[in-house]
Amino acid sequence: MAEPRFVGALDQGTTSTRFLIFDRAARVVALSRREHAQICPRPGWVEHDAAEIRRNAERVVAQAMAQARLRPADLAAVGVTNQRETAVVWSRRDGRALAPAVVWQDGRTAGEAAQLERREGARLRRLTGLPPSSYFSALKLKWLLRHIPGLRARAARGEALFGTVDSFLLWSLTGGPRGGVHATDVTNASRTQMMDLRAARWDDGLLELFGVPRAMLPEIRSSSEIYGRAVLASIRGVPVAGLVGDQQAALLGQGCRRIGQAKCTYGTGAFLLMHTGARAVASRAGLLTTAAARLGGERAQYALEGSAAEAGSVVQWLRDGLGLIDSSAEVEALARTVPDNGGVYLVPAFSGLLAPRWNAGARGLIGGLTRHARAGHLARAALESAAYQVRELVAAMERDAGRRLDSLRVDGGMSADELLMQFQADLLGRPVSRPRMLETTALGAAFAAARAVGFWTEEAPPRPRRLDRAWRPRLDARGRARLISGWERAVDRSLDWNDAPR
Ligand SMILES: Nc1ncnc2c1ncn2[C@@H]1O[C@H](COP(=O)(O)OP(=O)(O)OP(=O)(O)O)[C@@H](O)[C@H]1O
Ligand SMILES: [Mg+2]
Repeated sequence: MAEPRFVGALDQGTTSTRFLIFDRAARVVALSRREHAQICPRPGWVEHDAAEIRRNAERVVAQAMAQARLRPADLAAVGVTNQRETAVVWSRRDGRALAPAVVWQDGRTAGEAAQLERREGARLRRLTGLPPSSYFSALKLKWLLRHIPGLRARAARGEALFGTVDSFLLWSLTGGPRGGVHATDVTNASRTQMMDLRAARWDDGLLELFGVPRAMLPEIRSSSEIYGRAVLASIRGVPVAGLVGDQQAALLGQGCRRIGQAKCTYGTGAFLLMHTGARAVASRAGLLTTAAARLGGERAQYALEGSAAEAGSVVQWLRDGLGLIDSSAEVEALARTVPDNGGVYLVPAFSGLLAPRWNAGARGLIGGLTRHARAGHLARAALESAAYQVRELVAAMERDAGRRLDSLRVDGGMSADELLMQFQADLLGRPVSRPRMLETTALGAAFAAARAVGFWTEEAPPRPRRLDRAWRPRLDARGRARLISGWERAVDRSLDWNDAPR
């Protein structure tokens, strides 16, 4: 039989689910994509329907395989990458979701997180590399165990399973109730806040702290190994061989495998990650310490990370919440109808602020309005808010790492926006560069899977460093300082807008 010539990546993001098929040279030969519903039942809450996500995953896989006219035997392996932290609980018996998936952006547990900060902040940072926050899975799962009737008892009996989206999809893809593999990888597990980061094991003390029965947890494995084989008709029998959280996957996909290499992904949120090698570096500047990947039998690698919860989602909000544009891509044209921000700033603290400020009580605001302001100024302020947040993350990263980033390597859907990229270079005062392949998240997952089966054997995926475009800063230091001071005034006013949660 002929050798398989392709590798697949299932990229389950916050906004959409896609399946990409790469050839040996890492060229995309097929891509299928579907958005799913963002369910916001109360202010600050964000949910997904896990059943919808699974359906979308099955459809995009089948569609992309049909597009490229491939049979399962044409694929060497499939990798899975995913929105991280989002908590899913489902039934081992029939695979039904037992509750809405609580999404990483959901702030319903902010009050508990504040209490936890006082009692357990130091222990959590030391063991997990993460501050207490509603961002991570543990408090979301604790909330579900308390509020979904019967869930705790079923979990203790091993009938109810927990996982981040990678686990849920792996289990479903490999057979579900009939032999589905219940596992996760170190990158995803490192975002639950239940894993001892350096030992890469669930920590009994943390499970007790969050009241989580061990029987419901997936097994923690490496990011690149054969976990099982797919049962889905379009890819039946193909090894599922990569599991990597989306941001760590993008780091791999950008070919950042050495200490000091960094990338920033502008998707739903914005995420800056810097590789720190085999050492988990504790942050003093409000960043996270996280697993970067463990490729098969290799040593675990770590990264420093700064995340902003809202970036591309602000553009979606202009589209769906305000109806200012019909598609995300239109935001750039609208922003270009005005020459500058006209003094208008938008702080997208829709459910608090993450790194480096960690202010759960912050709420969004638009500041600096005058009668001069038009829709174009709002569009500009929305785009620019991503750049201001990333500038803060870069500054924090440089403090922690004790080194300067020469340039910023970017990717993600929102990096298509050239106005934003120029503004980012202006604000940073250094170049921003974008690879030709923007689907670095999928490429990273494909790479993890391809390595596990020997389809790719190099240290990094083929061609990831080929550049598409670079932007050089054009703004002088005075102009930069003026903009930044406006942003800081706006952010200051957004902090603790809601009473500090108790
Ligand atoms: N041309 C554009 N200008 C500005 N924003 C854009 C543009 N195109 C897409 N976006 C924004 O980028 C985001 C989509 O990016 P991407 O496709 O990387 O996200 P995703 O993978 O679906 O979500 P996730 O962040 O969960 O991975 C959306 O929020 C969208 O509003
Ligand atoms: Mg993505």
